Amino acid sequence: MFTPTILRIDSVDSTNLEAARQAKAGAAEGLCIVAREQTAGRGRLDRRWLSPKDAGLYLSIVLRPQLELSDWPLISLVAALAVSDALLQTCDLKVDIKWPNDIYVSERKLAGILVETVETGNGPAAIVGIGINLTNQDFPLEMSVSATSVEAATGSVPDANLLLQALVKAMQERYESLQAEGGIEHATREWCANSTYAYDRRVRVSSNNETFEGMTRGLANDGALRVETHDGRIRVVRAADITALRATR
Ligand code: BTN
Repeated sequence: MFTPTILRIDSVDSTNLEAARQAKAGAAEGLCIVAREQTAGRGRLDRRWLSPKDAGLYLSIVLRPQLELSDWPLISLVAALAVSDALLQTCDLKVDIKWPNDIYVSERKLAGILVETVETGNGPAAIVGIGINLTNQDFPLEMSVSATSVEAATGSVPDANLLLQALVKAMQERYESLQAEGGIEHATREWCANSTYAYDRRVRVSSNNETFEGMTRGLANDGALRVETHDGRIRVVRAADITALRATR
């Protein structure tokens, strides 16, 4: 059962690593580690996540899902929906979700999510790590064109604590709904309703071993992205980077 419990830390290597340590030590689901800064913040696909002090919201939540392991990828989709809910509620900010779980505003990335699985004495746990850019001031030059922040998007620095509380509540609701009857179909429908990437978006798909282009055609039941290539074939994408391309006729 998800019991929200917030543990605040000034500085940590990575809230995901700390949440994994706590999960291995027996932490219950709902434990949320929040740090003011991370010295080794981690992103998807082995990238770094820059985490200067108070410039972003950096948090990780421990989950112990009662789902088939094959459905765990849906956790990252509902985490994106929770971020979208919380930003709308507390900052009046409507965001887009780029598959699987990048949060975008005006084609710039505002937040990212890294879900990792760890083995613990009480079975496998999922660690949901969320980083939201609150201010732009500490972006390095190369990020300033591709990234944005709540401050840049709304004109004011959000109340980090209000955003955190709304986010944990939204995560609890979205996660409980995922595990309820019909929750998987509901989650994929909701994701599609909140993402311009779900249908008819021309994209480039880049993974370790190949790159191809096509049009998005919704989600498979486990949250994988369906992409139609030029020969009419549907490719089901589970781990890759997606880039939006200009539509062509
Ligand atoms: C991405 O690459 O888009 C995912 C970024 C996830 C960053 C967050 S910040 C809090 C948590 N701790 C980490 O080390 N990473 C995640």
